[in-house]
Amino acid sequence: MKISIIGTGYVGLITGACLADLGNSVVCVDVIEDKVKSINSAVPPIHEEGLLELLKKNVGKNLSASTDAKNAVKNSNITFIAVGTPSRDDGSIDLKYVEESAKSIGKALKEKNNYHVVVVKSTVIPGTTDSVVIPILEEFSGKVAGKDFGVCMNPEFLREGKAIHDFMNPDRIVIGEYDKKSGDKIYKLYKNFNCPIMRTSLRAAEMIKYAANAFLATKISFINEIANICEKVGVDVCDIAKGVGLDHRISPMFLNAGVGFGGSCFPKDVRALISEASEENYNTILLNAVLNLNEKQKMRVVEIADNIMDLSDKNITVLGLAFKEGTDDIRDAPPIPTIENLLRRGAKVSVYDPEAMENAKGIFGNKVKYCKNIESALKDADLCIIMTEWDEFKEIYDKFKLMKNSIVVDGRRILDPIKAEKYGIKYYGIGYHKNQIR
Ligand code: UDX
Ligand code: UDX
Repeated sequence: MKISIIGTGYVGLITGACLADLGNSVVCVDVIEDKVKSINSAVPPIHEEGLLELLKKNVGKNLSASTDAKNAVKNSNITFIAVGTPSRDDGSIDLKYVEESAKSIGKALKEKNNYHVVVVKSTVIPGTTDSVVIPILEEFSGKVAGKDFGVCMNPEFLREGKAIHDFMNPDRIVIGEYDKKSGDKIYKLYKNFNCPIMRTSLRAAEMIKYAANAFLATKISFINEIANICEKVGVDVCDIAKGVGLDHRISPMFLNAGVGFGGSCFPKDVRALISEASEENYNTILLNAVLNLNEKQKMRVVEIADNIMDLSDKNITVLGLAFKEGTDDIRDAPPIPTIENLLRRGAKVSVYDPEAMENAKGIFGNKVKYCKNIESALKDADLCIIMTEWDEFKEIYDKFKLMKNSIVVDGRRILDPIKAEKYGIKYYGIGYHKNQIR
């Protein structure tokens, strides 16, 4: 099929590259010229496992990028809207990019005769496709949805860092359809995937995305609360998560306690759902608690560090800047408020991350020292805080001896406390009690 995708961020570009790899002809559209040039030269503008290989394989054949939305829409049969949907200051969703995209698609549809389906992939609150996207498409195309063109809502469930794997191996595909003809067309695009394909209304598809993210965020805040209690009662949250996760009704996934969730989705989507519910006069007791706990959790490592030593004038190493492993993304990343807090306490902060250093420079400027590797970050440090669950931080026990004091606060529980003690490390961790009560 011929596909155009508006917005080539983490979601749009992965969707485009994967659909091209599956044999479709894809044009990725973005307003940023540098991104477009980069994609056309098969250079990934973001760090994502497997993306370089996909671009190398498909660019120049069935994948290209362009700044020209009109032409891309006119020369395709399906257009995905995959632009960002950021939060406003009050937590509500900002739809300006979705609206802009709908306008340019509408204008292109005006000049197009054959049937076209517009698919909203961006995460939008229930009712948006119906009450915002369709009216704009109709106004600017002069055509009628369901008659002259089709509309679907197809949420993404891609984890950054594993997005290509998740696209190619989905648990399920959700197709919200305005009418059967629109849904049939998108079903055809996905019919060879080996997973349940659920067809539903536009609103239900929009809500499924929010409910899924809100549940996963809740699971994380839940285990973080349990972790905080574990510290008090003298047990290790990792043992507890294992014992709990073996219940197949619960599953072990998303039970890793730590510094809280970040990224471009969970915080923003939970906030948007809360804001939408409040507009409908519903008070979201559980979701408010999920966010409140998450905000507190980001400071938990600083509290632990502060109990160990007076942090002012101390050399503190922060390992990890990305909001999770496998990405260079620092949107809503827990290390940001943690580092700001350390700086406010007068600590001298050295940082290292395998991928996110350049992005962090835009936030911290010259307030922290950027180190080129783990060793230089740890050298002569008084205390180290691990903030991101990168694999390369998991086997660095012998490197902590480069520190002045081998004191580690493990914000992601990626080190083995027993092994750490064997290496002479004074180990502290989220949900870990120094003297585990047996
Ligand atoms: C996506 C989804 O779309 C969002 O709703 C979801 O909740 C998270 O994932 P993401 O891919 O992370 O967003 O967004 P981002 O990396 O900001 O990429 C959006 C791209 O769209 C950018 O490259 C931006 O330049 C482009 N864009 C934005 C346009 O091309 N046109 C616009 O009008 C606005
Ligand atoms: C998420 C969803 O998983 C995906 O389905 C959705 O469509 C986009 O948002 P993403 O934000 O890329 O994906 O990453 P994810 O792996 O879900 O992690 C989100 C945050 O939760 C990260 O900060 C991560 O470190 C944290 N996390 C995750 C935990 O703290 N503990 C866990 O057990 C799992």
